[in-house]
Amino acid sequence: MTFKAVPLTPSIGAVVKGPYLGGVPSETTIEKLRELLAQHLVLALPNQALTIDELESLAGRFGPLFLHHADEGVLYANENKTVLEMRKEPDGTRLFGGSDWHADVTFRRPEAYLSFLRAEILPDCGGDTAFASTILAWQSLTPAMQTLLRPLHAVHSYNGPGMPDHETETAVHPVVRIHPDTGEEGLYINKMFATRFEGMSATESRPLIEFLDRHMSQPQFTCRISWQPNQLTIWDNRFTLHYPINDFVGQRRLLYRCTAMLGPA
Ligand code: SIN
Repeated sequence: MTFKAVPLTPSIGAVVKGPYLGGVPSETTIEKLRELLAQHLVLALPNQALTIDELESLAGRFGPLFLHHADEGVLYANENKTVLEMRKEPDGTRLFGGSDWHADVTFRRPEAYLSFLRAEILPDCGGDTAFASTILAWQSLTPAMQTLLRPLHAVHSYNGPGMPDHETETAVHPVVRIHPDTGEEGLYINKMFATRFEGMSATESRPLIEFLDRHMSQPQFTCRISWQPNQLTIWDNRFTLHYPINDFVGQRRLLYRCTAMLGPA
């Protein structure tokens, strides 16, 4: 069976029908997924009822898996602590990741490559996830702003739940990165984890980080993924931001996430 991708917008997101990705997908299947990700950045794959082990094994084909911090609203789905159970209960208010546009695990180097999110239980309506292309966002900046940003590096930090007291994970990344397959440039910064630019204070950096957050999340750079039970969505954290939409109350939402890193920590 071959893949059939239907774009959601001209430049970000596609619904992809294709072979079941459980079991041991062939190397050709893995390469095809890489190709589709380079083209669309975010893939929504319906009818992929992967078990926790299959989700972990699929993500593991793309890179070492991130051993995640425990957090409110997040439990480990298996003893390896690489698959997260992301749950909002009917009486819950917080949606994990729903406070800012962000990319996953940018506070490490090597940083996150792909995230794999499989839906189990969904509200009757709502609970979509929005994605933004940081490639399109970069392309629409003026040459003067691009020149200003190109030499900058940003400090990304995490010291939230799951971290020992007073410890922070920190990584420094270039603000502009190049897609190794397409040669396109994209912005690599997000308001959730980027605290400042290297060589600048947080106060000096904040206005530019805020501007970039507003710029990158403009509707023309985004797509919105609506979920179906057993849908798997895969996204490239290097060139996208995402925002889970916390617009449902009194209902349960449960998804499983696994994140493949660009290399071993
Ligand atoms: C996340 O931020 O990784 C969670 C996405 C979602 O729950 O839709």
